[in-house]
Amino acid sequence: MQPTGYPDLDALLPRLAAIGSLSAHALEAERVAILGRKQGVLTQALRALPQRDPSDRKRFGAEANRLKEAFEAAFADRETELGAQRSPVASGIDRTMPGRQRWIGARHPVTRVVDEVIEIFRELGFAIAVGPEAETEWYNFGALNFPQEHPAMDMHDTLFLEDGRTGGREGRKQDEGRLLLRTHTSPVQIRVMQAGPPPYRVVIPGMVYRNDPWDASHAPAFAQIEGLAVDEGIGFVDLKATLTHFARRFFAASTRVRFRPSYFPFTEPSAELDVECQICHGGGCPACKQTGWMELLGCGMVHPKVLENCGVDAERYTGWAFGLGPGRTAQQRFDIPDIRLEYGGDMRFLRQLAGQERA
Ligand code: FA5
Repeated sequence: MQPTGYPDLDALLPRLAAIGSLSAHALEAERVAILGRKQGVLTQALRALPQRDPSDRKRFGAEANRLKEAFEAAFADRETELGAQRSPVASGIDRTMPGRQRWIGARHPVTRVVDEVIEIFRELGFAIAVGPEAETEWYNFGALNFPQEHPAMDMHDTLFLEDGRTGGREGRKQDEGRLLLRTHTSPVQIRVMQAGPPPYRVVIPGMVYRNDPWDASHAPAFAQIEGLAVDEGIGFVDLKATLTHFARRFFAASTRVRFRPSYFPFTEPSAELDVECQICHGGGCPACKQTGWMELLGCGMVHPKVLENCGVDAERYTGWAFGLGPGRTAQQRFDIPDIRLEYGGDMRFLRQLAGQERA
């Protein structure tokens, strides 16, 4: 726009020229500053027209109105321009497209079993403890009363780790032996008992490793969850009552249970806890090999030798322990025919169970 010849009005020309580069926010502020009904500079100049010298009034009014129109046009142009930039076409976004569904994560079936076991025992006053997956022979076997070369160790074949002398763990005692991938969570019993005086009531979840076949009921790397209760005056009846309560909380209140004699070097007496088959309810089916029962866990009274190995007075304290395989329990709970489906990492399978959790 050409200069008006009035310094007050011409002072606004640089601002008129700058409108084309204003942001949406600055544009609105500038519109109020120039054309605002109360404070606008041009509005005020036009409002003061009656006070001007009559000889000049008409020309000034015409110039001020010309400037006002130029501002209005510049504001409108800039607004259109900014609107176009925001439009779906210009931004490359088609807002009419249906939204992409967000994938909601869900807990793995084995994690769900572990969480549920922990929760049931938490209600009974048990805390959580964890220990290292790379263990020493002493913690994995010796402290748990496995006699050297005992056949019970055949079921606990595992990988020994290189640099077993120090294994990066400073201060390891010479007699702790080589470093290995732990074969069960029971060594954490030892670590818990070494850490402080009784009583102990803990559950211990974690991964364990064995040279086992990769078949429908075995994985070479699988989860376990251990339980340990040590106090004065604890007897086998506490073990039976607590684990029966646990089984009925986990499955159904009416579930039948049975304890079968068994053997573990670190418990005496030892037992396996079976629950009524959750599929045929005792009638016999392929899942329970027609027995009507499913093995749930191994358990027993903590062997006095184990207590002594941890410096716990076995005359004064007694306790019980159990070890459960959540992978196998998840098979029973979710009717999963093959444990490899749980540990195989196939998302198509895991998604089906994730859907069940959200349902
Ligand atoms: C033990 O590992 C003992 N530490 C359990 C224990 C703890 C007994 C405390 C007494 C007191 P076992 O080898 O049976 O026991 O293993 C326990 C559970 O782990 C089994 O019942 C089974 O559910 C699971 N399990 C064992 N091997 C495998 C495997 N290869 N794959 C998946 N689960 C397995």
